[in-house]
Amino acid sequence: RPMDTHRIALIPGDGIGNEVTPAACAVLDAIGRRHGVRFEYDTYDWSCARYLTEGAMMPADGLERIRHHDAIFLGAVGDPAVADHVSLWGLLIPIRRGFRQYVNLRPIRLFPGVQGPLKSGTVDLVVVRENVEGEYSEIGGRMNRGFPEEMAVQEAVFTRTGVTRVVDYAFTLARTRRGHVTSATKSNGIVHTLPFWDELVAECAPAYPDVTWDQEHIDALCAKLVLDPGRFDVIVASNLFGDILSDLAAAVAGSIGIAPAANLNPEREFPSMFEPVHGSAPDIAGLGAANPVGAIWTAAIMLNHLGYVEAAADVEDAIATIFAKTSLRTRDLGGTAMTDEFVKAFLDVLG
Ligand code: NAI
Ligand code: MG
Repeated sequence: RPMDTHRIALIPGDGIGNEVTPAACAVLDAIGRRHGVRFEYDTYDWSCARYLTEGAMMPADGLERIRHHDAIFLGAVGDPAVADHVSLWGLLIPIRRGFRQYVNLRPIRLFPGVQGPLKSGTVDLVVVRENVEGEYSEIGGRMNRGFPEEMAVQEAVFTRTGVTRVVDYAFTLARTRRGHVTSATKSNGIVHTLPFWDELVAECAPAYPDVTWDQEHIDALCAKLVLDPGRFDVIVASNLFGDILSDLAAAVAGSIGIAPAANLNPEREFPSMFEPVHGSAPDIAGLGAANPVGAIWTAAIMLNHLGYVEAAADVEDAIATIFAKTSLRTRDLGGTAMTDEFVKAFLDVLG
């Protein structure tokens, strides 16, 4: 059959972003050959490195340049010489918001053969994080800088539209999994926004009679995620809660180096962005020792989004096979394997 071709905007970024992105592309190309898909990459140097020479993470018309790509794949951005809010608000947040990527999807699995920090238990869950509003709001300000009355105010913003669409996404996703949603809340302490969140979840739920659901306060939820992660299937959470939960869950599953993420515009009016959860890891950058599994699993989620469900499953199965059948482990998982060895193992498994 003729090859489908997809144009991907590639933003390797900083540090190990430049090491895991080529690894993900090598796997994408290999799986593409097997499933009749071809990827064409346009690479952009948007990064903290660019900020240090040109004063901006990306050009002023950056979003225009990637608006018509089928997807965006990002490695990681961050540099000790650049404040973290610059890299976040200068690149990631404009893309997430400008392209209405209101779902941040973070699947977490403890693969057999990977030694997690916990004694036992299965971990197979997805954190669905609200990605464009909530606590990460632009509303607020600073006053009286340098005086004793110096102050900062930041308003959390929860809208009916914003909460409803992410909650609907979570319930729809749960139908394709084990059929359970947990809503992260804190409506006992945060008395305006989170009771509103709870009400909207309760309004959405009856449309999914085949999905069971409950809600947990974020503090108790964190404890349960450590003590009994197997009880969770889909967790839906606000922007800040979802951010924290997904790093915690990734750690419970062994390493942040294997955790993937997708920033989705479910309506497909704009490209979605795929990026591993980890950052630029300046402490190991340049050594060729980064774990590429987070980026490779992220590539699998991109395949799934583009409609190649079997190809995506093949990549995820390859991850499971490598962990189960080989002793290859990068240093974040207590081993000494290098990024290249992992990529070679993938290419062997995928044929
Ligand atoms: P980090 O994820 O870069 O590193 C945390 C620890 O995990 C480090 O010890 C690192 O060596 C290790 N690690 C992370 N990914 C790994 C991998 N694939 N293989 C092996 N080890 C891995 O988080 P950190 O140190 O808090 O942030 C470093 C920089 O990255 C900062 O500038 C931060 O702002 C940025 N960052 C960027 C993100 C993004 O681009 N989406 C996300 C998180 C952080
Ligand atoms: Mg985070």
